[in-house]
Amino acid sequence: MKNIIITVDGPAASGKEKISKYISKRWKLKHLDSGILYRRLALIFLKDKININNINEIKKKLSEIRRISFRKSNKIRTQEIGNLASAIAVNKCVREFINNLQYNFVKKNKNNRGFVIDGRDIGSVVFKNADLKLYIVVNSEIRAKRRYKQLIDSGEKSIYPQILKDIKLRDKKDKTRINSPLVIPKDAYHINNESTFRETTNQINRLLERF
Ligand code: C5P
Repeated sequence: MKNIIITVDGPAASGKEKISKYISKRWKLKHLDSGILYRRLALIFLKDKININNINEIKKKLSEIRRISFRKSNKIRTQEIGNLASAIAVNKCVREFINNLQYNFVKKNKNNRGFVIDGRDIGSVVFKNADLKLYIVVNSEIRAKRRYKQLIDSGEKSIYPQILKDIKLRDKKDKTRINSPLVIPKDAYHINNESTFRETTNQINRLLERF
């Protein structure tokens, strides 16, 4: 196994992150969560009061940014940042900016065994030639319940019907945007993550054994 790329796409709260972390640990691959990059950018835009409806303001800000943290933190896990990330992600210039960060990350770490990268467009746009593409399937009610628990556990106030509404809205935005919408890559394996995590990882490990 050398330099392989595994892509993990799927809708909000489908468990991509947990699954990717598992693959990273089990198969000793470097993990990149592209959602973190969109969320980090959203946080910068929020702090700097960028008008996200003004494309010129967005482009100007992107040209000024020198580095973006890849670090996960509770302050970017909020619903507010998630929704803002989804809103800015519709822009081509934002997507190109984030895609370049991902290409540089892979280039910089190329002596690795490989990568597991999760997001919405990783197998369909960013790494079209990936060695293995996974698409995570979970219905929206189960996703909302899991996200609700996650938010409550991390100390955020949360209302289940609102979470479900947000998830459905985010799905709609992610699937219907013009630039890189969330689609199931043609050559992706569907991974059902509605049952136990053990069942999910069994499906994945069977696929990875061939590398
Ligand atoms: O996966 P996560 O919920 O952290 O992503 C936040 C938002 O960033 C998503 O709702 C989506 O709109 C956007 N995103 C994207 N493409 C990716 C990763 C995230 O458009 N590859």
